[in-house]
Amino acid sequence: AIKGFVFDLDGVITDTSTFHSQAWHQIADKVGASWNDQLADALKGISRMDSLNLILAQGHRENDFTPAQKQALATEKNTNYLQLVNQMTPANILPGITAFLAELTTAGYALSLASASKNAPLVLRKLGLSDYFTKAVDPASLKHGKPDPEIFRRGAEILGLNPADCIGVEDAAAGVQSIKGAGETAIGIGDPTVLAAADINFTDTTQLTLANIKTQLD
Ligand code: G6P
Ligand code: MG
Repeated sequence: AIKGFVFDLDGVITDTSTFHSQAWHQIADKVGASWNDQLADALKGISRMDSLNLILAQGHRENDFTPAQKQALATEKNTNYLQLVNQMTPANILPGITAFLAELTTAGYALSLASASKNAPLVLRKLGLSDYFTKAVDPASLKHGKPDPEIFRRGAEILGLNPADCIGVEDAAAGVQSIKGAGETAIGIGDPTVLAAADINFTDTTQLTLANIKTQLD
């Protein structure tokens, strides 16, 4: 039986995936890599350095920068991103999320966070949601990022639960792959063709209710 929910953050709880995209788009322009929707989707869920490497590969510039220059580009992206994050308020919580978190807590489900973002604690504070996620996987402690199962496996472990008793919630294909690899039930939020590997597909966060989930799992 399902006892816990392991949440992604960016693109599930709040629309920071557009902020990440905006910030990376500036870097892509700077290095001469062309930007398109497929690249934007591929960047969802993956770490800062993995994202930069993908952008450099897209621009055929993977051999043009020293490690120090790459570090500087990643830092520049994060500075761009933080400018957007610093303007966030609870109004940036996606529709239906506050009600869903309250519903889950009232019903006695355990919650944890499985975000690849080193900025996750700051984003949660800006949203006023830190109290819901006292249990969070530290992405700095991971050997492998999404799509590897490690982060969602750890998301269940910190709740003291078996993965089979957890539902993972994701907006990224790499994240759904991580959830399934960990042996959890996957809810994909967004384009069902991009997230075809999920067990349950919702087009947006307003559909996240226990009643809708139970209907889909029957
Ligand atoms: C999330 C986002 C990615 C981002 C990653 C690392 O997974 O979906 O777009 O690259 O976190 O975020 P950070 O804030 O540490 O650069
Ligand atoms: Mg995400």
